Amino acid sequence: MENLSRRGWLRLFGASAMGATALGLAGGGHSKSSAGPSAIKPYELPALPYPPDALEPHLDGRTISIHHDKHHAGYVKGLNTTLEKLEEARAKNEFSAIQALSRALAFHGSGHVLHTLYFANLAPKSAGPKGALAEAIKAQFGSQETLQAQLTEASNTTAGSGWGVLAYEPFAGRLLVLQIEKHENQILAGAAPLLAIDVWEHAYYLKYQNLRADYLKAIWNVINWEEVNRRFDQARK
Ligand SMILES: [Fe+2]
Repeated sequence: MENLSRRGWLRLFGASAMGATALGLAGGGHSKSSAGPSAIKPYELPALPYPPDALEPHLDGRTISIHHDKHHAGYVKGLNTTLEKLEEARAKNEFSAIQALSRALAFHGSGHVLHTLYFANLAPKSAGPKGALAEAIKAQFGSQETLQAQLTEASNTTAGSGWGVLAYEPFAGRLLVLQIEKHENQILAGAAPLLAIDVWEHAYYLKYQNLRADYLKAIWNVINWEEVNRRFDQARK
């Protein structure tokens, strides 16, 4: 069951085992021995790939620290707590709370994965997309500028808390812009997120207050296109 879950996660988010390691997911304890469910390690908070203030002046260090150390950590904790409760339910064969636990699993699990992608999708220096990704963007969006305009607007108009995401849909081999609400609503099943832009207020409020559009304008200066390229290549395999 756990191995099926692992494969499902990796397929849903387009990550190979190597990619999951790079995302900190394998370190999050998906490996399983024959000793049973208790041998599965809990998920872990991946370390930031840069110092918290490395993205200034576009994203301030205090926001990055709180975002990573408190908010992302909270989703990791929520995910592990939910998995513990599911294990307890299985042990007791008592599933009266399964609906709430299923919602919590999707919320905290998606929150953990999207935040892992978000921090990996940022870097102090930004170079544009290259190779096959650059060609796919030009063929499907017309230009990088048009893609950025659509993704910016999708992010800016996300209702309440959520995400703007560039994803790869493997059935047709198509790039799509998604507008995810909370962490888990309006996900397109099977589509692998390549670039995730967090528009929860905790991602920008200290520096930009209510000006989400200014945050979105600034974030394009620190997008790690090398990581987006890597995830695109991985998702197509
Ligand atoms: Fe966030």
